[in-house]
Amino acid sequence: SIGAISSSGSRDITTVIQENDKNYIVFYGSQTGTAEDYAKMFAKELVGKFSLKVMCADVENFDFETLNELPKNVLVSFFLSTYGEGDFPDSAVPFEEFLLGLDEPEQSLNRLRFSMFGLGNSTYEFFNNAAKKATKNMINSGATLIGKVGEGDDGSATTDEDYLAWKELILEDIKDALALQEHEQVYEPSLRYDTLIANTVDMDSVSLGEPSKHYLPCNKLPFNNQLNIQTGPFNHNFPYLAPIVKSKELFSNETDRSCVHAEFDISGSNIKYSTGDHLAVWPSNSNEAVKEFLLAFNLDEDEMFTLKPLDSTVQLPFPCPTTVGTAVRYYLEITGPISRQLFNALIQFAPNADVKQKLSQLSKDKTMFAEKVTSRYYNIADAALHLSDNQPWRTVPFEFLIESIPALKPRYYSISSSSSSEKQMVHITAIVEKSIVRDKSSPVRSAYGMTTNLIKNIECSQNFEEKTIDESDISFDIDGPRDLFQDYKLPVFVRRSTFKLPSNPKTPVIMIGPGTGIAPFRGFIRERVKYLELQADSNLTLGKHLLFYGCRNDHDFLYQKEWPAYANSLGESFQMFVGYSRVPDTPKKYVQHLLREQKEEIMKLLKEGAFIYVCGDAKGMSQDVHATLVDIVAEGMSISELEATDMLKMFKTSGKYQEDVW
Ligand code: 2AM
Repeated sequence: SIGAISSSGSRDITTVIQENDKNYIVFYGSQTGTAEDYAKMFAKELVGKFSLKVMCADVENFDFETLNELPKNVLVSFFLSTYGEGDFPDSAVPFEEFLLGLDEPEQSLNRLRFSMFGLGNSTYEFFNNAAKKATKNMINSGATLIGKVGEGDDGSATTDEDYLAWKELILEDIKDALALQEHEQVYEPSLRYDTLIANTVDMDSVSLGEPSKHYLPCNKLPFNNQLNIQTGPFNHNFPYLAPIVKSKELFSNETDRSCVHAEFDISGSNIKYSTGDHLAVWPSNSNEAVKEFLLAFNLDEDEMFTLKPLDSTVQLPFPCPTTVGTAVRYYLEITGPISRQLFNALIQFAPNADVKQKLSQLSKDKTMFAEKVTSRYYNIADAALHLSDNQPWRTVPFEFLIESIPALKPRYYSISSSSSSEKQMVHITAIVEKSIVRDKSSPVRSAYGMTTNLIKNIECSQNFEEKTIDESDISFDIDGPRDLFQDYKLPVFVRRSTFKLPSNPKTPVIMIGPGTGIAPFRGFIRERVKYLELQADSNLTLGKHLLFYGCRNDHDFLYQKEWPAYANSLGESFQMFVGYSRVPDTPKKYVQHLLREQKEEIMKLLKEGAFIYVCGDAKGMSQDVHATLVDIVAEGMSISELEATDMLKMFKTSGKYQEDVW
């Protein structure tokens, strides 16, 4: 996000390549940053293996009119993710438009040679559509595809292995296509890294991470009061630091499980959202995770450094100068799962022969890696310490870590407020994944929700007076004194979604959202309540709004106290059906069971043109709900299952059946 792409400020692809003397391009179009991670990994490999002069860049930053005029022998590798219903990432929409505008008979890309790796999710209907579509368009305009289109599948959690399998083949193809010599892989950093001596820098210019106005990660440094005044527009590259002004626990037996409601204040930011959008929130790593990482790689939290990009095509991953602690805490995904690729790259820095041998074995053997690393939820520090019998690794350049560990990515939440009733406030509703195994004797760790735990800490701090917190409850990692979390701010931005109420309030609406899938529907209902409040005509009636909700029991019934008030305001136009799945001696009742019970009403509303909305779990629930709806429609209209499936597919295409699932 820092610095211009080209020293001359040009967006023209050929100009930038010539200006910077590059001979290879790795482009990414990324929605959440995963495609970017893979693109960077791939670029690094090309540099290491073949000493190519690679530019790795976001398609967003370029115009492509001269894509066919690149210097001879410049290959382009694309990493393109698919989002939602087969869409291009937001940042790649201009690229998509460029492709659509290509003149096929003109052979307007006949000099281009490219490779393609798609990142998608096979639980969605249009798997890797963006990558496939872009490939087809380019081929139709005369471009040559090198190798096969790679298809990463997040749905079966195999993106990493899909990438590695694709990479192995494509590197050979690229080697042949460019007649390259492979050499022993050496580590060649693509950023230059200078350690600064403390008194040579202007202290005020040292970045301590975005949220640091309220939290000093490293207490040797002066408090930085003049951190950037925030000006929009806010997006992935420029998040807004939003204070969490209110938060509360939603479960009534919080010791078991926890779910937080948090309200972010966006007043004065000029951020506009609309009901049904998503809020992206950046977490920061916990003290414990930072400490373990620093220990594993023998790093000094307070050491200051700055990154010097090799040339203007290299964008810095975070503001500099900064401290090691800041970079680790706020910008690196240090607790995420590790890739086999990273293990392979670490071999060269292994602290001893024994570790080196273990690393090479694990990085070669996919099954062993899955068993010994992935299934144990090891993060990089755990794995490093485990391999070396708890001896710190003193040999890994910090710069290598910065370049090899994925950037800390925002987490997305369905907004649970309504932009007409809460214009200046964004609500989110999130289950806190607080299970973490700290039993050091056991090698298995458990996944841990970073953002949600941070928000939970904020909640504990804000409601401290009312609460007795069990200090021994180690599942909450309280970062320092609790009042540090008062007025805590987190970097956020709003991601537009297509999950929107029908514009005509008389259109009937069927909403299905068990668990936290209820979030956007709270927003929808608040929207309708506000709408009625604003109407002069008190006799106005809304279309029927059915809400199907499922939870375990009364303890995790989200916003239980709010629904009667909404029902009161909306009268007959609102009906809520609730099923419990874990009440002793009672059969499980899921949302799809409730749907079946209401099949006549559902058919009636569908005939009146109802919209269907599903929010929540993508793997089980949304597919079971879909199957149930197929049954209901087939039966209700006396048509075959196939015909009913087609009908629902048409509903999806026309926006009458919308999903917000994850
Ligand atoms: P469970 O107690 O059996 O897990 C929110 O998570 C609610 O959704 C819970 O009541 C949960 O039930 C339920 N649920 C789990 N799997 C589901 C599925 N495939 N379809 C619908 N609801 C489901």
